[in-house]
Amino acid sequence: MTPNSETAKTYPPSAELASKAHVDAAKYDAMYAASVADPAAFWGQQAERLDWIKAPTEIKNTDFTLGQVSIEWFRDGTLNVAANCIDRHLETRGQQTAIIWEPDDPSEPAQSISYADLHRRTCRMANVLESMGVRKGDRVIIYLPMIPEAAYAMLACARIGAVHSIVFAGFSPDALAARVNGCDAKVVITADEAPRGGRKTPLKSNADKALLHCKDSVKCLVVKRTGGQTTWTEGRDFDYNEMALEADDYCRPVEMKAEDPLFILYTSGSTGQPKGVVHTTGGYLVYAALTHEVTFDYHDGDVYWCSADVGWVTGHSYIVYGPLANGATTLMFEGVPTWPDASRFWQVCEKHKVTQFYTAPTAIRALMGQGNDFVTKCDLSSLRLLGTVGEPINPEVWNWYNDVVGGGRCPIVDTWWQTETGGHMMTPLPGAHATKPGAAMKPFFGVQPVVLDPQSGEEIHDSPTEGVLAIKDSWPGQMRTVWGDHERFEKTYFSDYKGYYFSGDGCRRDADGDYWITGRVDDVINVSGHRMGTAEVESALVAHEKVAEAAVVGYPHEIKGQGIYCYVTLMSGIEPDEELRKELRTWVRTEIGPIASPDLIQWAPGLPKTRSGKIMRRILRKIAENDYGALGDTSTLADPSVVDDLIENRMNRG
Ligand code: WTA
Repeated sequence: MTPNSETAKTYPPSAELASKAHVDAAKYDAMYAASVADPAAFWGQQAERLDWIKAPTEIKNTDFTLGQVSIEWFRDGTLNVAANCIDRHLETRGQQTAIIWEPDDPSEPAQSISYADLHRRTCRMANVLESMGVRKGDRVIIYLPMIPEAAYAMLACARIGAVHSIVFAGFSPDALAARVNGCDAKVVITADEAPRGGRKTPLKSNADKALLHCKDSVKCLVVKRTGGQTTWTEGRDFDYNEMALEADDYCRPVEMKAEDPLFILYTSGSTGQPKGVVHTTGGYLVYAALTHEVTFDYHDGDVYWCSADVGWVTGHSYIVYGPLANGATTLMFEGVPTWPDASRFWQVCEKHKVTQFYTAPTAIRALMGQGNDFVTKCDLSSLRLLGTVGEPINPEVWNWYNDVVGGGRCPIVDTWWQTETGGHMMTPLPGAHATKPGAAMKPFFGVQPVVLDPQSGEEIHDSPTEGVLAIKDSWPGQMRTVWGDHERFEKTYFSDYKGYYFSGDGCRRDADGDYWITGRVDDVINVSGHRMGTAEVESALVAHEKVAEAAVVGYPHEIKGQGIYCYVTLMSGIEPDEELRKELRTWVRTEIGPIASPDLIQWAPGLPKTRSGKIMRRILRKIAENDYGALGDTSTLADPSVVDDLIENRMNRG
């Protein structure tokens, strides 16, 4: 049964928390009403939280009309993101810790990087990049472990006006090459090796392989992390550690227009290859900073930790840009939750006296399975707030997080948002809203969610209701375009439901008007919080010489949320066996990366297709879910008998 307001227990904020919070219930109501009544007035005022070189006077110029979609915020304002995240704090917070870095191996010392250190190191990195020929508007790929240099690199790009694009260190050389070429990057910043969970990924040698498929002019800047041996290509490879020693401690921040791109982040959609989501300078930073402060109720002296990787949008907005714009202390963790053992997260919380902790449901599920002792043996009394992001959280998992990790005293913010939205879109606010296990609850300021009937596209005003989730008007953190393909941007987000931004998610609104995200309604799957298009896995599979055709769907997986279920039709004459299954698994890992590794591969002599040749994924999804009693209408299939065969031989029996 899906939970609703009648069955779900609610957890109101304590009076003490509400009285100290930035936003209590009355303030939320007033601010939310103001933000939708007059967005320009509201956001014009919020923009004052940043230091502008030229303050904006034109606040909102946005249009969701298909064919002329255009999104601009603060367009006549100018500023520099790095100056906002570092320089303006120097006078009051120079000696305050900006970044706490906790390495993969707990026996290696942690680092404390003050705002003054951050300034020096970012400036040096910026000067190194300039000396390599990087100029305003150029693209730089960052392919680094979770080390402080990743933050320096992001901020250094922002300082000189270069556009960064981070590629998650778990991605393969092929995926890296596609992104270098996709945005025509001038430089790739990488490290010798990335330690994670006691193992090392050879990043530099991955980059070497990727660069074989890129223009000869692309340069590679190499940060030393482990000292592991790397091969060196004279003239192409540059030694960061050596160059940083020589580089000047100061680099002037470049004046950027609010709508100049800040970064590109590749993300998966339901069709084709990943697209380059473009975020710009002014609106993004206003939105990341405000949401960070309000959602996490960040106050001076707090130690805030988001356990995401900077390779994902969560790391961009809530490890680096939001917290640093607010002058916060942000923790950066190189490791994984389960190594050396399942106590690692909680030991880090204890060691650094973390006050706000933000992670993904998949991590919580994995840790919950290890038992409570790993948590309860640590002193977690510093924790004041918990957060989750990335996928729907099951109520049992929410309860465990609340009771065992939070000791029943920490509000949980279940934040719904996307790479495309730049920051939180729906979340309870800790001092304002009662929470319900599994609900994203309320829209953030300026966000106008609507539930649409999936068929008619009409807005449904009554509650309770269920439908697809769209947003009615723009907010400053919204993506502006797909890099190099504005038409794809319009088609992906504005063509299914005219006049709205379509999220790709389904949702319910309960009788109280609170929102529950039910998951993707398109061909995007969410595996351990990592988002991927089934089309990407399919094209990797069919690139194998023995595969004729493949269809990929998600199925419920206890730890990962969704697992990857592949139906594979082999070339004629090829006999399926276990060896080939293994080979295909390894193949997909090398084509995309370990996160895309198929969980189940079913040999499919035929796939269910309509007479026009379209694969009916609805049916494949049902079979993968073991829900073959509810296949629905199969009469439009060209050959209905293939379905019987697939059911007969389905993989996850039980
Ligand atoms: C899902 C991650 C339920 C959703 C910030 C969305 C969630 C996709 C939640 C975006 C949540 C994210 N509850 N589902 N709190 N947060 N999602 O771009 O399906 O990696 O569309 O951004 O994750 O994933 P992305």
